[in-house]
Amino acid sequence: MFKEFSLFLVGLQICYAANRNVQFSRDFSFGVATSAYQTEGAWNKDGKGENIWDRLLHTKPGFANGTNGDVASKGYYKMMEDVDLLNFLNVGHYRLSISWSRILPNGKPSYVNPLGVEYYRRLFRVLKQNQIEPFVTLYHWDLPQPLQDMGGFLNKSMVNWFRDYARVAFELFGDDVKYWSTFNDPYSICANGYGGSSLAPALNKSGEADYICGHNLLLAHAAAYHLYDKEFRKIQDGRISININSNWVEPISTSEEDKMAAEVQKQFMMGWFANPIYNGDYPEVMKERIRERSLLQGKHNCRLPSFSREEREMVRGTHDYFSLGTQTMLLAKSVNSPLRPVNLQQDVGAKVIEKQGDVSWGMRKLLVWIKKNYNNPSIFITENGLGTKSATPEDPERIAYIQSMLVNVYDAMTIDNVRVYGYTYNSFMDGFNWRDGYSKKFGLFAVDFTDPDRTRTARRSAYFYKRLCSTGNTSNVYYSGSWRRDYQN
Ligand SMILES: *[C@@H]1O[C@H](CO)[C@@H](O)[C@H](O)[C@H]1NC(C)=O
Ligand SMILES: *[C@@H]1O[C@H](CO)[C@@H](O)[C@H](O)[C@H]1NC(C)=O
Ligand SMILES: *[C@@H]1O[C@H](CO)[C@@H](O)[C@H](O)[C@H]1NC(C)=O
Repeated sequence: MFKEFSLFLVGLQICYAANRNVQFSRDFSFGVATSAYQTEGAWNKDGKGENIWDRLLHTKPGFANGTNGDVASKGYYKMMEDVDLLNFLNVGHYRLSISWSRILPNGKPSYVNPLGVEYYRRLFRVLKQNQIEPFVTLYHWDLPQPLQDMGGFLNKSMVNWFRDYARVAFELFGDDVKYWSTFNDPYSICANGYGGSSLAPALNKSGEADYICGHNLLLAHAAAYHLYDKEFRKIQDGRISININSNWVEPISTSEEDKMAAEVQKQFMMGWFANPIYNGDYPEVMKERIRERSLLQGKHNCRLPSFSREEREMVRGTHDYFSLGTQTMLLAKSVNSPLRPVNLQQDVGAKVIEKQGDVSWGMRKLLVWIKKNYNNPSIFITENGLGTKSATPEDPERIAYIQSMLVNVYDAMTIDNVRVYGYTYNSFMDGFNWRDGYSKKFGLFAVDFTDPDRTRTARRSAYFYKRLCSTGNTSNVYYSGSWRRDYQN
């Protein structure tokens, strides 16, 4: 009897780790996130140009489970309705991205699309009028196709293309937007889009194209940062950074090899981008391994490009806050990598799998690791979310996920003295999810993708989140109202 009872408690703790509630202070900001391609739809409306996701999903079968973002959640047509939902949630901020090809259909400022500009101008205005702070990402994976046709991130001209686009965005929207992010999740852009083939443009040249992509991306980020710093900051008084996504990596065993593998994996994921920006160069272990393996592979040059001294100084310090995205936890096992094929994961020398069950304690460890490695930065969590195969209106998994993540954020702040200023649940509503299409549900609001109008319905988690935004408290008090019904009823 007793044994069974205690096992039950252990089980309870694993699935619903938030066995206590925490109270955040008034100035901690809660928000939600979406991105342009995942929710807007209207892929070819009002003068928008074609981007790499449009091209990939219209021409190559086998991606995104046969779906695409042509219509998505119809966000482009539902601005006021969606702002009502944000007001319902009582969020302090809303993270979203600008579709580059909606304002610059050819990718370049030689032609600026007035209807695209009007859409974002209205959106940012309305958000400000409703006291919702827009957190705006310039690039959430949707490069204009004409720029991809010239090599995309493999072309050093990306630095100029991106700076020119950023200038247009700062000039047009900088009065209303005070929190900018240059790129969302550079690791995925380069490792999966250039090295792998699970994201557009799906180049599949691992161990080479990914490192070149990362290099040009870092320089493009730095160029936009300095542009803002020199020409816009004084008047517009905003903050600009880059959203770095990484998960906590735990060794799969207590062996020294696996511990080392977990650390190296983190350096290849977060360190690849954060180290140049915070500490002035790629992580030592990354440089060493790739240099050594490139030589053994008979290459004349290290596959990881190096920064000139001038470039290092240009990239170092280009952050006003640490914008963090994280979803889950990985387990790493050390492996002896063969020299061929050339491959990024072989350079790491680790095999990783996603941890099952409670992953929330990785959040606290990740925050502490960031504090230690990047000189105690101010952190804003700009993305954290759970995708579920199905979701009932009661939505218990998502609520437990958010609660347990926040308990760990709170402990990192109060026990480990990590400086965290905000939390952003991703997503605001169900949308298009890259690899999986529409089969995974991330939203606090369900979207009916069989309904031409893409009706939104609040899940129980939306009511939980509303209370969280309003009180800063993570308890899930039973809401006796009509939460099963459409939010409007
Ligand atoms: C890189 O971009 C420039 C324009 O800035 C273009 O002239 C050149 O052809 C591009 N390179 C490749 C390989 O497409
Ligand atoms: C990616 O390239 C590797 C060889 O480098 C090949 O074995 C694999 O089939 C390719 N994958 C796709 C999806 O094209
Ligand atoms: C692909 O889509 C089908 C039909 O919507 C769905 O049943 C299936 O679960 C999806 N597969 C994956 C891997 O998401």
